[in-house]
Amino acid sequence: MKSILITGGAGFIGSHVVRLFVNRYPDATIVNIDSLTYAGNLENLRDVAARPNYRFVKADICDYAQVQRALADFAVTGIVHLAAESHVDRSITDPFVFARTNVIGTLTLLQAAKEYWNGHYDGRLFYHVSTDEVYGSLDHGGFFTETTPYDPKSPYSASKAASDHFVRAFHNTYKLPVVVSNCSNNYGPYQFPEKLIPLFINNIRHNKPLPVYGRGENVRDWLFVEDHARAIDVIFHRGRIGDTYNIGGFNEWKNIDLIRVMIRVVDRLLGRPEGASEKLITYVTDRAGHDLRYAIDSTKLKTELGWEPSLQFEEGLEKTVKWYLDNQAWLDGVTSGDYQKYYEQMYKI
Ligand code: NAD
Ligand code: TYD
Repeated sequence: MKSILITGGAGFIGSHVVRLFVNRYPDATIVNIDSLTYAGNLENLRDVAARPNYRFVKADICDYAQVQRALADFAVTGIVHLAAESHVDRSITDPFVFARTNVIGTLTLLQAAKEYWNGHYDGRLFYHVSTDEVYGSLDHGGFFTETTPYDPKSPYSASKAASDHFVRAFHNTYKLPVVVSNCSNNYGPYQFPEKLIPLFINNIRHNKPLPVYGRGENVRDWLFVEDHARAIDVIFHRGRIGDTYNIGGFNEWKNIDLIRVMIRVVDRLLGRPEGASEKLITYVTDRAGHDLRYAIDSTKLKTELGWEPSLQFEEGLEKTVKWYLDNQAWLDGVTSGDYQKYYEQMYKI
């Protein structure tokens, strides 16, 4: 029987991966290990929490003993590692927690898996979920491919790059069966409202200023989170051991263009006159070292494993806006307490 440990399953992407795996693999035990930081919320998994094949363990991935116990208690055969500190702005304010969770946490998991599996690697896999930000920043042309040299530029991407290197080093040195994927920006339900899309939907709804960094010229490639979860499923089950797969939507948007589309959709769904919320756009000081453009070439994943995004961006954005407008209670829950302090310190507008 398979037993799959998913780290960071109470976070944004992790919760979609847990839901997909719990629903798709009723004969496998799906173990979610998460320390429930500000970004982790068990409400994200309310619909699957009572399933017989789901287990939750509250544990810190930096705690070797706790990780080892979870591996042994559930006889884990595969790991999908998503737990991380994930917000670039927070990494600029406090890089140390990024080194701790993203680097030491990943190393702790690798070492624990190596010890637990103890060379019996048949049918075992350590899947490390990473980001396209490790490749650095693009100018106006070109794409990141799997062979683009690493050139991380923020404390967040530097910590993710370091973790990717450790994963590959464990494969090279100890033959640990690993696979790595690097994905572009995700959007969708259950994303913590410190990231651009949920933050702006929430602010438009409440007529609060929309803090656009710099001139809003930066470009991101957006992928609907359920498509990322499907890609993870495909790579986990069919990816080549030791290999890397880029995941992206071929869906680039300049921030300011995306913000204008969001304003249109939110205003329409709230019954406001078209463009009513344009006045909320507020240009603020740029993020330090702000990467200009990310763009992923995910051709390899399509040609080798047949994965493609299923949703058009307009459809995904509409679904996402509706979800946030319908789930104000979820937003209120995650934005109480510490979030208010973060918001005031981050945005003095
Ligand atoms: P998130 O911040 O929403 O969730 C992270 C989860 O990890 C939370 O549930 C948190 O409680 C948990 N966690 C943090 N530190 C932990 C620790 N020390 N021990 C145990 N659990 C801990 O992040 P996300 O946006 O869902 O991203 C998940 C993964 O995907 C990350 O590795 C991130 O680098 C990667 N990724 C994210 C994006 C994106 O657009 N969000 C894109 C590409 C890759
Ligand atoms: P974000 O969602 O933080 O993702 P990342 O930095 O990992 O790409 O930001 C997406 C883009 O939106 C990025 O170019 C920064 C910009 N941005 C703003 O202009 N204002 C904001 O308040 C935030 C959070 C982001």
